[in-house]
Amino acid sequence: MKAGIITVSDKGYAGEREDLSGKEIMNLLKGAGHEAIEYTIVADEEDMIYKAIIRMCDECSLDIVLTTGGTGFSKRDVTPEATSRAIERFAPGICEAIRYNSLSITKRAMLSRAVSGIRGETLIINLPGSPKAVRESLEFVMDSVEHGVDILK
Ligand code: MTE
Repeated sequence: MKAGIITVSDKGYAGEREDLSGKEIMNLLKGAGHEAIEYTIVADEEDMIYKAIIRMCDECSLDIVLTTGGTGFSKRDVTPEATSRAIERFAPGICEAIRYNSLSITKRAMLSRAVSGIRGETLIINLPGSPKAVRESLEFVMDSVEHGVDILK
């Protein structure tokens, strides 16, 4: 898969925090034989997130766009709203599966408002913000996501 990674973090965007979650996604993709060819960090601003998603889907012809961060309950957490604007066909099963699996690790998984869906021929998935949560989420859905992307073309 040709992948894009969008890290959503005010502190990361301001250069005040190293983006370990974006790096974790990159490593997981590489380990599964995929390539992250686009990567960006944006602030927790709905328009900024939306524009980054649209650019990756419409201009970079990626198979998959993974976001990390901004899916929780704090007032600045708007990644699901920005993503929902970009999605043409929702694929809720992916984030449902992530929450289902993550609930056996931490009950706090129920606090992720992540969404997933398709824009054109690109699958978009919101992942939570911490490197640990990213790993626990992506590893669980990777093989099904690969199959989904195969039949999207
Ligand atoms: N999912 C997994 N697998 N592991 C975790 O540690 N943390 C949860 C949840 N999902 C977590 C998880 C917590 S504490 C929150 S608040 C939500 O993801 C939203 O995280 P975000 O705002 O960083 O996106």
